[in-house]
Amino acid sequence: MSRSAHPAGPRHADVLTEGHYSAPAADLNVLDEKVWSRTVTRDADGALTVGGIAVARLAEEFGTPAYFLDESDFRARCRAWSEAFGPDADVFYAGKAFLSRAIVRWLKEEGLNLDVCSGGELTTALDAGMPAERIAFHGNNKTAAEIERAVEAGVGRIVLDSFQEIVRVAHIARSHGVRQRVQIRVTVGVEAHTHEFIATAHEDQKFGIALADGQAAEAVRRALGLDSLELIGIHSHIGSQIFDMAGFEVSARRVVQLLAEVRDEHGVELPEIDLGGGLGIAYTSDDDPREPHEIAKALSDIVTRECESAGLRTPRISVEPGRAIVGPTAFTLYEVGTIKPLEGLRTYVSVDGGMSDNIRTALYDAEYSVALVSRTSEAEPMLVRVVGKHCESGDIVVKDAFLPADLAPGDLIAVPATGAYCRSMASNYNHALRPPVVAVRDGEARVIVRRETEEDLLRLDVG
Ligand code: LLP
Repeated sequence: MSRSAHPAGPRHADVLTEGHYSAPAADLNVLDEKVWSRTVTRDADGALTVGGIAVARLAEEFGTPAYFLDESDFRARCRAWSEAFGPDADVFYAGKAFLSRAIVRWLKEEGLNLDVCSGGELTTALDAGMPAERIAFHGNNKTAAEIERAVEAGVGRIVLDSFQEIVRVAHIARSHGVRQRVQIRVTVGVEAHTHEFIATAHEDQKFGIALADGQAAEAVRRALGLDSLELIGIHSHIGSQIFDMAGFEVSARRVVQLLAEVRDEHGVELPEIDLGGGLGIAYTSDDDPREPHEIAKALSDIVTRECESAGLRTPRISVEPGRAIVGPTAFTLYEVGTIKPLEGLRTYVSVDGGMSDNIRTALYDAEYSVALVSRTSEAEPMLVRVVGKHCESGDIVVKDAFLPADLAPGDLIAVPATGAYCRSMASNYNHALRPPVVAVRDGEARVIVRRETEEDLLRLDVG
């Protein structure tokens, strides 16, 4: 996945060379279980069902576009992560991927902790009853009011991101008569995305305090010197959509080196290490993510090995998967509106949503899959670009994919693996109404985030 944003200019000439896209699947009707949530299947009529409900019924009841979230899959993934890491580690779901009060309740029931990074996420978590001690509060520029709220609520940890924040949090904690548990986020000089990682020269970013030049060691020194802070460990987060564990290896090695320096200088062994999130999922059949138990084993082996060689007790590990839990559990359902075959190029399929419900394609050149889901078809594959209804050529949902050539207006198509960073990054561009999120489980569907209405738009516009 390329991370480079592009100017939102005309992209009509941007026709990829042949071979950029994968060849069509042998049978377009097959729903690859790697990219679809676990209860998705086709019924006897060929229509996609999720949680036992056919998409036509879902579209009729909830409209399109809409996100359908497979609740039992979400819960199963939570359990898989917490079982894989076991009782001696902590899994924090990263709420930025997608957060709602129902999600918070499921996390609570499944025994996960929650990472929030804004006052809004914190409010959602607390309102839905997440115990404050199970919440980690992140962010590179938390406001004083947000810190105050987190301290008052009694969050389990605040992840300190800068020298100023060390002082700010210490001051607010002192004024509340609290000793606040904190971690320090360090920049380990590793940047990892998908199959690649780069292990040098990535201090040039806004998050964390660099390990380089003794800065992180200085941050530890300052935090340890402040009575109102209880420094419980070091945090690092190296990137997104990562498949290659080598980046975590380098990161863990560098964090453990810091723990050893802290022990040598202060005689303190910090008890925890947080390796962040970023674990990849399958957006297309070409992606091969690892299972949580493999990831847990790899991470704990790396930390144990590094600690043994540094003569340290192995700290308690925490991780913060967002995408890997919620990403695969939802798909976006669209209705096909217009179809434009461009001779010798491709066919543009316009749907009733677009970059307002999935900005990731425009923003990151992200790859997605798509399938015709209201029926099966034996027609030949045609190369399509699925685009939205926004006034912008960069309004692309799926850049290159194959759909059956008999696709027609009114057909329902679905884009899988849209559970993470789609609704949470959705916008009102062109006054689009953000789609609902509907949870489906055991034959029942219920709205957990309702569709925006035109009244919602007008309510914010005070005239
Ligand atoms: N922990 C920290 C400190 C993070 O900054 C993030 C993501 C996570 C955990 C969760 O990462 P995940 O497991 O979900 O990859 N909007 C982008 C992703 C931005 C991620 C920012 N931080 C996207 O759509 O790909």
